[in-house]
Amino acid sequence: MNFIQNETAEKLRGGYYTPIDLASFAAQWVGEISPSSILEPSCGDGSFLQALANASLGKSEITAIELNEIEASKASQRARSLGINADVIPTDFLAWALCQMPPGGARYDAVVGNPPFIRYQYLPATFQAEAEKIFCKLGCKFTKHTNAWVPFILASVALLRMGGRLAMVVPSEIIHVLHAQSLRTFLASECSKVVLIDPEEIWFENTLQGAVLLLAEKKKDARDVSQGLGLVPVRGRKFLTTMPGDVFKKAEAISGKAIEAKWTRAFLSQSVRELIDEVQNGGQFVVFKDVAEVDVGIVTGANKFFLVDDKTVKTNRLEKWVHPMFGRSEHSPGIIYDDAQHQRNKLAGLPTNFVWFPDQSVMKSSAAASYIEFGEEQELHKRYKCRVRKPWYTVPSVSKSAIGMLKRCHDAPKLVLNKAGAFTTDTAYRIEVQKFRPSTFVSNFINPLTALSAELEGRTYGGGVLELVPSEIERLIVPTLSKAASPIADVDKAMRSMKMPQVQETYGIEVLKAAGLSSQNRKTIFDAWIQMKSRRQRNGGDKITE
Ligand SMILES: C[S@@+](CC[C@H](N)C(=O)[O-])C[C@H]1O[C@@H](n2cnc3c(N)ncnc32)[C@H](O)[C@@H]1O
Repeated sequence: MNFIQNETAEKLRGGYYTPIDLASFAAQWVGEISPSSILEPSCGDGSFLQALANASLGKSEITAIELNEIEASKASQRARSLGINADVIPTDFLAWALCQMPPGGARYDAVVGNPPFIRYQYLPATFQAEAEKIFCKLGCKFTKHTNAWVPFILASVALLRMGGRLAMVVPSEIIHVLHAQSLRTFLASECSKVVLIDPEEIWFENTLQGAVLLLAEKKKDARDVSQGLGLVPVRGRKFLTTMPGDVFKKAEAISGKAIEAKWTRAFLSQSVRELIDEVQNGGQFVVFKDVAEVDVGIVTGANKFFLVDDKTVKTNRLEKWVHPMFGRSEHSPGIIYDDAQHQRNKLAGLPTNFVWFPDQSVMKSSAAASYIEFGEEQELHKRYKCRVRKPWYTVPSVSKSAIGMLKRCHDAPKLVLNKAGAFTTDTAYRIEVQKFRPSTFVSNFINPLTALSAELEGRTYGGGVLELVPSEIERLIVPTLSKAASPIADVDKAMRSMKMPQVQETYGIEVLKAAGLSSQNRKTIFDAWIQMKSRRQRNGGDKITE
């Protein structure tokens, strides 16, 4: 959990400025329509003003907004020294945009910029209310999980005239985060074409924030049909020497069902997208929710207190209250969690014990009472998740499942067969499968198509870790084979000794073979998974423009 007091002032105002070469590329693209009015919604010290001057757009009527007065005056100064026609307004863009927005306000020929990346909960209350109003005014579904860049882009598109162009540097999360779904839908319905230039590198040094360049052309009129979305993966900065108009034109756009939800499918070639549809229609693969259920793990509210190692159990005489548990990747290197693995974890000093006090009667035990008092000394009973339950030390919804699944993974998600009957905490999900033996499901889950669907459905943050929430797990493509393509013990052993791509090549491919995929199709799916995984991990891949 991040807290506002731990964040830097720079991060809280989203003060990361765009390198001039990128800003100039964006300005050059909007310059192709010779805009007479241009908006920069959060201009910082004026990187885009410089870029507009570089692109010979200094005579256009430029309106630049910036909340921070010091930065706004630097931008003003810069505009003056560049001799461009810019009006820098030191104010809050969200409130300003609400007054300008349609009906009657869609008047800018172009918008350029890089909106602030600030979590909704870190925004002042007035800005939060304005953000919500922008969603409402445009008929978009609002969520408090939003981030400042989302209402900034929504309002910017709304302020653009028909046929106008928007070029903005935005977080790469725009492709997949659930909270940006309203924005993706809005862009797809308002624009005739949207292109995202997706770099392999991090453009903002010293941050983990991935960013992409969003190029969007607003529909020319109500009858204009949307071509959809094109994604252009790039490596390095060589693309900046090409004509931005060519990049936009050449980007192959896809529309319809493939980009209704997340935009990740646009990274795949048409033949791969068709192959996935064909395999799903063939009946040997279904979506996860057709055959299994996923539930969040046990929420303790204070994992360090409730999940402890053997030493803590012994010192505090908690033997009567502890139960086996696993929940981290180092707890389960394979896909079977059995007594032997549990013993190994104990010997390694890992927190393998879940402390469960079922009700108030535990206070009769002096050991339990003093451990609970120790928790209260650390004020754990005041933490939100603890204080909303009575008594605070009784963790609710305590149950085991036949299968566990860690929320996060590096290469591909895996299920873990819970042979030890252990509990799993909120770092893992509880999974029950109805139609197959749990061991069959766990073994066959390791295959390149399921892994590829995880790349399409999941989310990633700085650092490249893949995370899946329950609604995303429910959409994973899983095999319906009633027998394991390989014995689970063999796959488990391989998971402990080989890297994931090797396991997929050796065992995962066998699942696709058993499901009837030709050798060419097996390879195509495997390669598509590697491509998507490499993109997420930023370690190179095919189909990248140098
Ligand atoms: C990511 S920086 C980008 C600055 C500039 N557009 C660039 O690309 O170099 C975002 C800027 O938004 C400004 N900002 C934050 N909240 C704002 C708001 N509500 N209205 C206008 N500007 C805001 C910050 O002060 C910061 O300068």
